[in-house]
Amino acid sequence: MKKFLIFIVVYCCFNFFLFQTVFAGTVVEKFKIEGIRTIASTKALQSELLKKLDVKIIDLNLKDTDSGWPVLKVEYDPDIISKNKIESAIGEIEDPAGHNYKVHKGPLITNAAPLEEESNAMMKFGDMTMDLKQVKNPTVDFDSSISRGKDMFAKNCAKCHGLSGNGYGVVAHGFTTWPKQLWVWHKADSSADSYLFWILENGKSDMPPWGLILSEDERWDLINYIKTIKKPEES
Ligand code: HEC
Repeated sequence: MKKFLIFIVVYCCFNFFLFQTVFAGTVVEKFKIEGIRTIASTKALQSELLKKLDVKIIDLNLKDTDSGWPVLKVEYDPDIISKNKIESAIGEIEDPAGHNYKVHKGPLITNAAPLEEESNAMMKFGDMTMDLKQVKNPTVDFDSSISRGKDMFAKNCAKCHGLSGNGYGVVAHGFTTWPKQLWVWHKADSSADSYLFWILENGKSDMPPWGLILSEDERWDLINYIKTIKKPEES
């Protein structure tokens, strides 16, 4: 028993000194990461970074961060590697779906104003200047369509858009463009259909292309439901 204890003490000391020599003079830096979408992409980021640079990853904090962005904590020796080098290495890594990561700079943009192409698209409903397919809402029974849309929204969309449509869904923390507040479409008339149909079918940045997943009828149910989402009362 005594021998065993001595062994443990010696073993711990050995590891402690080894650790000291290997990581002497290191610093710890935090990087906010854009572009994390899936569990697979959190793994790829870490393993690829370790392949590229001689650093130690302390952790990748996905949720409890002040800024809302996932934070990667990295320990490295500043005599050998610079912070810029780590940032550019992160920017070169591709996730399993072929998207690049990016180190986030500046404040979090929540509910950003529409991008120019979106404003153009919205102004040009009915006019084919933008590549929007003209569509006609085939719904006959709106009440039952909206109620199907509501269920589907909770199942497929709320994790990013939030159940109320406010854009703060549980997984909406690493997005390049934040989902906007869906109540901007409240009571929109049929002129909005081409745009809504287009974005639901094709997706955009972090918005998945639902045309691959949901049938056309299901997407109309969602469009009908989106138009009923109201801005929640301030509480
Ligand atoms: C993985 C996260 C995610 C999921 C799931 C998701 N969305 Fe999105 N959605 C986004 C993001 C991010 C944007 C903003 C895209 C951009 O502007 O680049 C967006 C944009 C939109 C827009 C356009 C808003 C506007 O004002 O231009 C609509 C409409 C929309 N989503 C509906 C849906 C519906 C309906 C579902 C469920 C079938 C859904 N989304 C599921 C992330 C998601």
